[in-house]
Amino acid sequence: MLDLKDYGITMWEEEKIASFREKLLVWYDAHKRDLPWRRTQDPYKIWISEIMLQQTRVDTVIPYYERFLDWFPTVADLAQAPEEKLLKAWEGLGYYSRVRNMQKAAQQIMENHGGVFPSSYEEISKLKGIGPYTAGAIASIAFGLPEPAVDGNVMRVLARLFEVDYDIGVPTNRKIFQAMMEILIDPARPGDFNQALMDLGSDIESPVNPRPEESPVKEFSAAYQHGTMDRYPIKAPKKKPVPVYLTAFIIKDSQGRYLLEKNEREGLLSGFWHFPLIEVESLSGNLGQLSLLDGKGEAERNPEILSFEQDYDLAIDWQDRSYPIVQHVFSHRKWQVQIRYGLVKEGEQPATESTVWLTPEEFWDYPFAKPQQKIWMTFTENEN
Ligand code: ADE
Repeated sequence: MLDLKDYGITMWEEEKIASFREKLLVWYDAHKRDLPWRRTQDPYKIWISEIMLQQTRVDTVIPYYERFLDWFPTVADLAQAPEEKLLKAWEGLGYYSRVRNMQKAAQQIMENHGGVFPSSYEEISKLKGIGPYTAGAIASIAFGLPEPAVDGNVMRVLARLFEVDYDIGVPTNRKIFQAMMEILIDPARPGDFNQALMDLGSDIESPVNPRPEESPVKEFSAAYQHGTMDRYPIKAPKKKPVPVYLTAFIIKDSQGRYLLEKNEREGLLSGFWHFPLIEVESLSGNLGQLSLLDGKGEAERNPEILSFEQDYDLAIDWQDRSYPIVQHVFSHRKWQVQIRYGLVKEGEQPATESTVWLTPEEFWDYPFAKPQQKIWMTFTENEN
């Protein structure tokens, strides 16, 4: 096992560890948040909550969690779910590989474990999409095993307790915090111990506006005692997301239906439905500025408009409207989307296979990701 001394960290004596556990858990018992997944020991439910809670806030997760269990009450239901319904269940949460991996893991549980959630850390870790954090969370919360669940919140708390001089954003440094937790974790109440640190890290010790004087364990905290709370945790600033410019085409037919397309490509937002969307070099302004509507010839028309009409085999009456730019930030990319609105001239049909014409009422049946929802909202709010 890793020796913490090599990293400049001196672990506490047994007595101090015992008193730390006691202080933390007494505080947790009095202040823990009443969350739906804390009223169950069912590993399936705890798993769902833990996957949703990665990169998503508790308040946002609660309604998704309830609906997910309503739609897929058992591992078997999840294993068999159609893709469209699976994406619909996750619509708006982002990081959609999470739910695709969950379905694969559910299939593994059906095939390898007869539909019963595995109960050892090793078996849980073999499931698709389950890394050391999630395996630790499920093992400790659902099965009472003394396994740490080290996430960003826990690392922040530990970094302050011990003045850890290693960057918590560097993946290989996680093992340092894992080793600390293996010593600190309370074997009598591992799930509560892990969750107490999560609660502490997401509120009293949050990254912005922490309230360290309210911490139940401030007397244990080296950073608090030394007045170095603002130095810890060490974390290099994130790289800025790269800007990507796109045009979204909102096309309406004479029956009030809109043209939607399924993203068949692998990767970002795969499987979701959206207005036709193309990447452009820059945002070119509204159609009026481009003099598109004053009788100029085809050759002078905006190339993105031309290529849209060709690709989709549609003749369009483009509307001279301007809409605010829609922005959406993914972890590595920042989308800036301009909207073009046009009406189909009578009798035209789209040329590609993965397109449909839908009325706004029918949108509900199709999975829409956040950028698509924002585009639609921006369009409807600025229609007149
Ligand atoms: N964040 C991740 N897992 C959590 C949990 N079990 N309780 C509260 N916040 C969390």
